[in-house]
Amino acid sequence: MTRPGLPSATSARPASSRTLVVVAHPDLASSRITARLAEAVSDLAHVTVHEIGPAYPDGRFDIAREQLLLRDHDRIVWQFPWHWYSVPAVLKAWIDQVLTHGFAYGASGTELRGKTLQLVTSTGGPAESYASVDPTSRFTMTQLLAPLDATARLTGMRLAEPLVLHGARTVSDENLAVHAKRYRELLDS
Ligand SMILES: Cc1cc2nc3c(=O)[nH]c(=O)nc-3n(C[C@H](O)[C@H](O)[C@H](O)COP(=O)(O)O)c2cc1C
Repeated sequence: MTRPGLPSATSARPASSRTLVVVAHPDLASSRITARLAEAVSDLAHVTVHEIGPAYPDGRFDIAREQLLLRDHDRIVWQFPWHWYSVPAVLKAWIDQVLTHGFAYGASGTELRGKTLQLVTSTGGPAESYASVDPTSRFTMTQLLAPLDATARLTGMRLAEPLVLHGARTVSDENLAVHAKRYRELLDS
């Protein structure tokens, strides 16, 4: 895993086989789940793990650099903890700044077209609280992920089936290891 600097945006591998994992956590040092999952895929040869928290502590991204990384990869993973039924602020800021008109959308904004967007997240709430019958949240993950689905559609990316770990606060080390293996296999496919 590249920490805290920036990964190389160039490689001998063809772009069509490369995966960029954008790891978005406000404090990765205190993370159990996000850090463990990022570690699980960090040594895959075709995967670039890119932490956007420590690389940009002032919240201002090097837009040209980020866009170069996106251009250089075929599958884009957004890996993040679920915060207030959405992405954490650091990922929202990254999306706001990096997916610009003329790059990600608009008549000439075709750079993301044809890529795959893979969402990887974890929720503190159990799976049942993301069932539509739950009286507290009332919404499913599919419904709550609608803004990201819309973002993928606008930018021409295909949204893959999200990988979600529910009950993150209480998951055992053993089950976390099983989930991490599943994530690794997904990115290795
Ligand atoms: C600011 C904040 C907001 C959160 N909001 C939610 C939420 O809306 N729904 C939920 O199920 N869990 C929520 N959680 C719990 C996190 O999703 C959970 O702790 C996280 O997935 C664990 O990953 P980590 O170890 O990488 O931090 C929240 C946690 C924090 C710190």
